[in-house]
Amino acid sequence: MPTVLVTGGNGYIGSHTVISLFENGYDVVIADNLSNSKMEVQNRLEKITGKRFKFYNVDCCDTDALRKVFEENKIDSIIHFAGLKAVGESVRMPLEYYSNNIGSMISVCKLMTEFGVNKLVFSSSATVYGESEDVPFTEESPLGMCTNPYGWTKWMLEQILRDYAKATPEKKICLLRYFNPVGAHESGLIGEDPRGIPNNLFPYISKVAAGTLDCLTIFGDDYNTPDGTCIRDYIHVVDLAKGHVKAIEFLDKTEDPICLFNLGTGHGTSVKEAIKAFEKACGHEINHVIGPRRPGDIAVSFASTEKAEKLLGFKAEYGIDEMCSTCWKWQTMNPDGLKD
Ligand code: WQD
Repeated sequence: MPTVLVTGGNGYIGSHTVISLFENGYDVVIADNLSNSKMEVQNRLEKITGKRFKFYNVDCCDTDALRKVFEENKIDSIIHFAGLKAVGESVRMPLEYYSNNIGSMISVCKLMTEFGVNKLVFSSSATVYGESEDVPFTEESPLGMCTNPYGWTKWMLEQILRDYAKATPEKKICLLRYFNPVGAHESGLIGEDPRGIPNNLFPYISKVAAGTLDCLTIFGDDYNTPDGTCIRDYIHVVDLAKGHVKAIEFLDKTEDPICLFNLGTGHGTSVKEAIKAFEKACGHEINHVIGPRRPGDIAVSFASTEKAEKLLGFKAEYGIDEMCSTCWKWQTMNPDGLKD
């Protein structure tokens, strides 16, 4: 049974991916410093899978501490999720974002070299496409100017990994560009659990639906889109998780040192449509007002899914209704998130 090291495996996308890997016959070792996740996730993963995963409370920037994970386990491949991801916070704390996101990746790569681990999947983001109006984004779309340090860390890490792959042809590296991951596991036991007031649309809507927050502000309804609100490619986190298993399988057979895939549905949903879908899922209206545009937002973003379909055999199965219903189930089962 090949062992996958999942850094940030306690987080939102990481924890769903751990389940998918387990369901597909992989053994999993998790390294996470709990900076944006709770230890309770491990209990939830055990409830869902019946298995207690090996867990290391370690900061991936600390190469010596992370080395222990490689010494104690025969790692076959790595999925690197660990990183800071709040756009607004990255504008306030750029140095933390650059040192943490880049430092942890370099530390992981050094250990890959040291221990002869040859397969790596990296969490990148559609944010690297910048403000282009040429949608859908294909993997060949030009990289744009990012609007915040978080986005730049993804952009820079893609380049660092291209250089690393070029210098070490025995390594196989897969960059996955996520669109907007939402939803939760169907059990309602794990889901997105942001600390404090959420910044992203779905966690915010679910708090308004639950009555924890009063009102959602739609950031602008004067965009050049059919209903005036921004369009995004929301992808169910369980679909996204399955995409990682496909990526690991692909690395087993590809000859190329580096490959790159969008993970989205290929389908755009406006903010107003997302609210409507959520209202259907929770059974009541969501209080909302129209506010000004949020700086840095682009009007339309959705993926071309052709390459992932053709080469990975990946196609998202869930639509916006399942994204909303699972998000709502998670919210109602865990109104205050998970305990620390
Ligand atoms: C979606 C839409 C908002 C909140 C961000 C990162 C990206 C990726 C995913 C993550 C936009 C609108 C939102 C609200 C609103 N990274 N909105 N009212 O900005 O597409 O992508 O998250 O880790 O890199 O940039 O996602 O969920 O913030 O916004 O109207 O209170 O909802 O304007 O159109 P975004 P989002």
